[in-house]
Amino acid sequence: MAAIFSKKNAAGELTGLPRHIAIILDGNGRWAKKRGLPRTAGHVEGSENFRRIATYCKNIGVEYLTVYAFSTENWKRPPEEVGAIMKLLGKYLHEAVDTMAKDHIRMKILGDVSALSPELRSLVDKTEKISQGYDGFQANICLNYGGRDEIIRAASRWAQDAAEGKVSGELTEEIFSSYLYSAGIPDPDLLIRPGGEQRISNFLLWQCAYSEFYYTDTLWPDFTPNDLDKAIEVYRSRDRRFGGVKNP
Ligand code: IPE
Ligand code: IPE
Ligand code: MG
Repeated sequence: MAAIFSKKNAAGELTGLPRHIAIILDGNGRWAKKRGLPRTAGHVEGSENFRRIATYCKNIGVEYLTVYAFSTENWKRPPEEVGAIMKLLGKYLHEAVDTMAKDHIRMKILGDVSALSPELRSLVDKTEKISQGYDGFQANICLNYGGRDEIIRAASRWAQDAAEGKVSGELTEEIFSSYLYSAGIPDPDLLIRPGGEQRISNFLLWQCAYSEFYYTDTLWPDFTPNDLDKAIEVYRSRDRRFGGVKNP
């Protein structure tokens, strides 16, 4: 923690801090299995950890935190597990309504919410409405989210608008981005995947074009602010060239 806080420029601002961090919350099931607990216990611990890490991100000055909580593929899991995850999400969003008002946190849900229960949908609406009153740190929760699904939806919505003459027929990267769930949110600078796997699993396929990737074997429920500091230190040591050259 100290290392991060010590790196300030002449104006006293933190330097090199990722503006936007994205995390694939993975390893809840294995965390529980290691302790002889049901997988659901891992999801409970994982959602508590999201609270801890989101607060930490806000405190150190990260502007956006985007987490992958439930993918379009996660419906393949046993119905009891899906049900337990949905229940937890409901509980989390319910509590978040109070926390957001207290801490002035903005929250956005990214994904196809139409497949969620009416209770969850109304909580999603509520959190988004509250968010409109604040600026500052924003937490994005990807729920029933798939990168390919997002791209297909954006493409068909744009095509429809173009056919109805609502937009010009020229499609640019900027216009396309404005049709994604993430419209208005800058691309992630740093993508972290705990849990030992080194794959993207259909997360932010468009937005991660130039994100720095960081993998760790630590399971998500065990991932601490100290682990986040480590990831940020590694991020700071990277040379982001965006296709250019450093010293031409
Ligand atoms: C991530 O943990 C949570 C979700 C995908 C909903 P997992 O449930 O995938 O945990 P592991 O990968 O089986 O350990
Ligand atoms: C990715 O984790 C999705 C979320 C964390 C929501 P998974 O556990 O579903 O990914 P795979 O199956 O290992 O690729
Ligand atoms: Mg997993």
